[in-house]
Amino acid sequence: MNIFLTGATGFLGGRLIRNLLEEGHNVYLLARNTEKANNQKDRLPLSLQENVTILKGDIVQTDFGFSPALLTELTKKIDIFYHLAALVKFDHHLRDILMEMNYHGTKNALEVARVLKVPKFIHVSTAYTVGVANSGREKLYDLQQNFNNPYEESKALAEHEVMKYKGFMDISIFRPAIIVGDSKTGEADSNFTLYGFMRGLELFKRKLERKNYQEMVHLVGSKEGTSNLVPVDYVADILTIAAKRATSTTIYNITNPSPPTNREILATIKHHLQFDSLGIYEKGTVFTLNPIEMQLNSLIDVFEPYLDRSISFDDENTQALLKGSPIAHLNMTDEILEIIIRAYFEPESEKLEI
Ligand SMILES: NC(=O)c1ccc[n+]([C@@H]2O[C@H](COP(=O)([O-])OP(=O)(O)OC[C@H]3O[C@@H](n4cnc5c(N)ncnc54)[C@H](OP(=O)(O)O)[C@@H]3O)[C@@H](O)[C@H]2O)c1
Repeated sequence: MNIFLTGATGFLGGRLIRNLLEEGHNVYLLARNTEKANNQKDRLPLSLQENVTILKGDIVQTDFGFSPALLTELTKKIDIFYHLAALVKFDHHLRDILMEMNYHGTKNALEVARVLKVPKFIHVSTAYTVGVANSGREKLYDLQQNFNNPYEESKALAEHEVMKYKGFMDISIFRPAIIVGDSKTGEADSNFTLYGFMRGLELFKRKLERKNYQEMVHLVGSKEGTSNLVPVDYVADILTIAAKRATSTTIYNITNPSPPTNREILATIKHHLQFDSLGIYEKGTVFTLNPIEMQLNSLIDVFEPYLDRSISFDDENTQALLKGSPIAHLNMTDEILEIIIRAYFEPESEKLEI
């Protein structure tokens, strides 16, 4: 098949194109930075490189900035359009750019797919369009509900836009939870979500060391609350089989049926970061934060909505999609969590030795 993909130079996209190429598909990549895309292409095995075409464009521009000639050339040529490109940041002050990229960018992607007469559109959203609710379903959420940040809201708006195109093409929406490294190697090319959180803790620990600060420091969160982590290979494998198996107008939650607790995640991070003085104050109990702890908590406050509660997600549509496929329903063991967190903190030299 001929597959068009946005977001190919990103964490998930990089993994997905490899899968799609290994399946024998031709892949057309949209890249705003063609140098980055070319470097990524160069890292692929030679036999796969010839099936990659890089197209310069930007999702915030009408028609991605493609010329009329290119649009004509691509019309009726693409079998599936995967839309992954997005801004994955949770900061409130980025509201305008998040709406521009994630909502208007998706509208542009849908229009390009319609103009090119693409029969199938696969949209990558997020499980966190669930907003502040504690129960995630595989259906569209009400846009009047409350969201934790403009990222969630922009992605929820985009989902509603995608559904409006069901008369033009088959559409399906895939909603991964928090994407983390490879389940076998821990490898991750990401600075966001769990990786932004770990980086924040790492920098803070260094700062405390410089000040020779020896006291305990506490994050505020729910120890028994869970963080819904999903390995990148699981997400990419599901998106790969979606090419043949996804059914139109269906929403698929790519979530972890038994996610680790924040206590387990933090214990693993503490161990590998050698940050023994890090603790958690249970949200809702009585405690006082000292100025250092206030700094720590404000440094990572964008992650707070994901640390202080447990959400249960339905993933029955995903389980049905996996049935009869070579991919097993996710069972993320403690060992996998350990591999993923260890890979982040492992010195580069040790990584090379493996
Ligand atoms: N990471 C997670 O934990 C997570 C969880 C749930 C859902 N998701 C969703 O999964 C998708 C991929 O996420 P990711 O983690 O792979 O993100 P990422 O690593 O930040 O990659 C984002 C991709 O989008 C591209 N992009 C951004 N703005 C663009 C623009 N204006 N025009 C063209 N391309 C643009 C980026 O290109 P450049 O290389 O040029 O920056 C990059 O290829 C997103 O839709 C995200 O919402 C991610």
